[in-house]
Amino acid sequence: MRMSVVDEIKARLDIVDVVGSYVQLKKAGRTFKGLCPFHSEKTPSFIVNPERQTWHCFGACGTGGDIFSFTQRAENVDFPGALRLLADRAGVEVTPRTPTAQAEDDARTRQYAVNNAAAQFFNSQLAHSPAAAGARAYLEKRQVDAATCERFGLGYAPDSWDGLLTALTARNYRVDDLAAAGLVVEREGGGYYDRFRGRLIFPIRDERGQTIGFGGRTLGDGLPKYLNSPQTLLFDKGALLYGLDLARETIRRVGTVVVVEGYMDVVSLHQRGFQNVVASLGTALTEAQVSLAARYAPQLVLALDADSAGNAATLRGLQVAARAVATQKRRMPGPGGRLNTVEKRAIELRITVLPAGLDPDDLVKQNPAEWERRVAASKPVPEYYFSALVSDLDLNTSTGKEEAAERLLPVIRDELDSPVEQGHYLQWLARLTRVDERQLTQRFRTLGRRSVDHGASPPPMRPAPRSEEPRARETAPEVKPRQFGLEEVLLGWLIREPSTMGALQSALAERGLVELTTADFTAGDNQALFEALAEGRDVSADATLSGHASAIAEYTARSPSLEGDQLVENAVKVILRMRRGRRQQEVEQLEFLIAEARRDGDIIAAERYELRMKYLSTEVVRLMSALYQTGPR
Ligand code: UTP
Ligand code: MN
Repeated sequence: MRMSVVDEIKARLDIVDVVGSYVQLKKAGRTFKGLCPFHSEKTPSFIVNPERQTWHCFGACGTGGDIFSFTQRAENVDFPGALRLLADRAGVEVTPRTPTAQAEDDARTRQYAVNNAAAQFFNSQLAHSPAAAGARAYLEKRQVDAATCERFGLGYAPDSWDGLLTALTARNYRVDDLAAAGLVVEREGGGYYDRFRGRLIFPIRDERGQTIGFGGRTLGDGLPKYLNSPQTLLFDKGALLYGLDLARETIRRVGTVVVVEGYMDVVSLHQRGFQNVVASLGTALTEAQVSLAARYAPQLVLALDADSAGNAATLRGLQVAARAVATQKRRMPGPGGRLNTVEKRAIELRITVLPAGLDPDDLVKQNPAEWERRVAASKPVPEYYFSALVSDLDLNTSTGKEEAAERLLPVIRDELDSPVEQGHYLQWLARLTRVDERQLTQRFRTLGRRSVDHGASPPPMRPAPRSEEPRARETAPEVKPRQFGLEEVLLGWLIREPSTMGALQSALAERGLVELTTADFTAGDNQALFEALAEGRDVSADATLSGHASAIAEYTARSPSLEGDQLVENAVKVILRMRRGRRQQEVEQLEFLIAEARRDGDIIAAERYELRMKYLSTEVVRLMSALYQTGPR
């Protein structure tokens, strides 16, 4: 059997090196230890095991896996993304893609190239061209310094019909690629002309710093004030945040992303040291943008002008976007084939209101401390939203109070997901209307319940300290083509009988066991394969998964084929064994951690580990008894 790409990568990369380039690891017995990059902690509870080539966080996250799952989380990419990154690092060739996917990939690659070349052209015009004197004077007037110009790659598009066109075609870029990137426009009679003329250019980059489009500001009163790239293969205005490439490290470190409206606001704030700021590019914040932000921070502060901050429709939009992201679906078939939502990455949306008539750029120039103060004094969206809903009422009168409760109680029930939040806003409403809180709570209870799926928000991300030197390998890991085990057996059955998934989830539920999720799998490729199966995707058509899927299918082909109840019954047992095995591994590692914490006199850590150990031990017992119990409870 040919070694799969995943195995090849695993054979060439050591988990200690891979993780070590994000986290400072210290050798601790047979394992390595460091601060978990996925949550904030002071005592290291993040363990890397070179023998098993796995990682695990014994702190707040409680998660773990292999190099693939680690890279997925550390780089915010999906499995194919992690595969590409690690394949690059290992110098392994990823399986060739299908012809259409390949063609689209090529087109994207050419657009990145053309956008990059255009950005360079505009940038060098701004720096050197006599024709850009006006643009340079404009930037000076707006107090944008040279270093900031360079960081943002600002540029100037000459006021001519073919400045860029001529320069780039001379360098062998193809006209149709320029047109597809929205840099030139086709004339009716044939031929092309530059889209951006006589404008100050703001290159728009994705979060990895690749140029995907442009915004061009007029230097006078020309309209539109800002001309942007059209929608292209790369550029989707509603799904990006301007400045995220430069802001993301700071955003991760401070745990808050601040969203303003404009290009200039971002540039100006960054220059003055506020580097967790990005722009929504003038549109109302979209769900895609909130979801993008949620990958970097658990909190988003939106700078709104006073009008928008009092506008119920705007606020409702934000509330809806935040909730949509909080319940963002990695949909999984649950008991009875119902779709459940799992793996939430919630983000709290807050608002800070700008002084009337000032945008963030004006404000920070006048008074940087005031900008800082306003961001710190931001308030959660619901507070504004609920206030806006009753702004027309006189809360000093009993009818006003009555009406306010009438309007807001159902909204508090429907728009807030956690009982804690609901309780908080009941208190808030009581203060607002000066009505006894118990009375409101009483009425709230009689409203009836809506069934919701509550999820906890993730802990804030810590920045990952990058060590410059690649770590020396202390133990050469012996990675052979992977030994298939329980995970693969289970996946093999699910590949053979995809319709089993629903029945299996129901069977787990009937036994009082939690549903099967990606978290049950340790290997990144197994997780990705499970996710695809759970979503009902055809894994044989998926270029990154088909190889692994067929290897598993081959592996399980020889086992007797089970059907119906028998298959489900066996699958439940396999899942229980998988879970027990994982817990036992954790127990082993904890024993070591406890001993070490005691030796270092870190009683608090030792107690925390012991608590976890107790929990795990009861879990193991519970899983064992479930395993030997036959049939549903
Ligand atoms: P503003 O009109 O507030 O501009 O639009 P600004 O960012 O403050 O720019 P300056 O200070 O006048 O130079 C906010 C954002 O809305 C988008 C741009 O992204 C802009 O930064 N916008 C605005 C457009 O896309 N097109 C327009 O014509 C105007
Ligand atoms: Mn402005």
